[in-house]
Amino acid sequence: MDGSAPRPRELLEIAVDVARDAAATAHRMRAEGVSVAATKSTVTDVVTAADRAVERQVVDALRRVRPHDAVFGEEYGAGGPEAGAARVRWVVDPIDGTVNYLYGLPYCAVSLAAEVDGEVVAGVVRNVATGEEWTATAGGGAYRGGERLRCSGETDLSQALVGTGFGYDPGRRAHQARVLAELIPHVRDIRRQGAAALDLCLAAEGRLDAYYEKGLAAWDHAAGALVAAEAGLRVAGLGGLPPGPDLLIAAPPALFQPLHDRLAALGASGGP
Ligand code: IPD
Repeated sequence: MDGSAPRPRELLEIAVDVARDAAATAHRMRAEGVSVAATKSTVTDVVTAADRAVERQVVDALRRVRPHDAVFGEEYGAGGPEAGAARVRWVVDPIDGTVNYLYGLPYCAVSLAAEVDGEVVAGVVRNVATGEEWTATAGGGAYRGGERLRCSGETDLSQALVGTGFGYDPGRRAHQARVLAELIPHVRDIRRQGAAALDLCLAAEGRLDAYYEKGLAAWDHAAGALVAAEAGLRVAGLGGLPPGPDLLIAAPPALFQPLHDRLAALGASGGP
């Protein structure tokens, strides 16, 4: 067991190196041609050979530099020491936006976060197609290309561009669509771009005003939510709960409560 608590900055440097190499692999494999390797929760929830290869690469790279840490990934689940035996846990989504990746849409990313004692302290999200990269450390701010990020200053929900996403289960999607249909008259517009980690990073720099989604897994939001929070967004669930599978809302302070209340009234965290 590794008793020392590494600095967030140190973990971020590792994360950035590993994510860059991982994104390069995903980019190369995309150029060589992609097909569905398997399906997961439903027939639309696909996994490509690249998802698997990239996660393996990330796990191997982390093992080389930090052999005592735990790793939790989208494709292979938990690895490393028993739960609770490591202070550091890495959370990886090898390709967030897998469907975009499959279709050659330039909106997919490697997402890698480091937790210390259960708190995310460092995160990087790197767009596989464009090379855009967002980073954050807890208390140290959020950055893209060396520039510190600040979220939107929008204060009026009716003027807000709001991102969201859908799960893969048809019943869940139907519920999410009903919530969306009731929300859209009350906001500027909605974007569904297909990669939660990137949506959170776009909100961090005001290219979206806010974002919400039900059903996200830790690997979808661990890094992006830190980027968003460090850029000034409030990131939480309903009724003071932490963000999680029931709902994640990321909104500038002035927009959080109105968006929260509308989503609560629409039962956004309910349904399958
Ligand atoms: C998905 C994307 C999508 C979101 C889904 C996620 P994946 O992740 O982030 O935008 O709406 O909920 O599952 O499957 O592409 O890694």
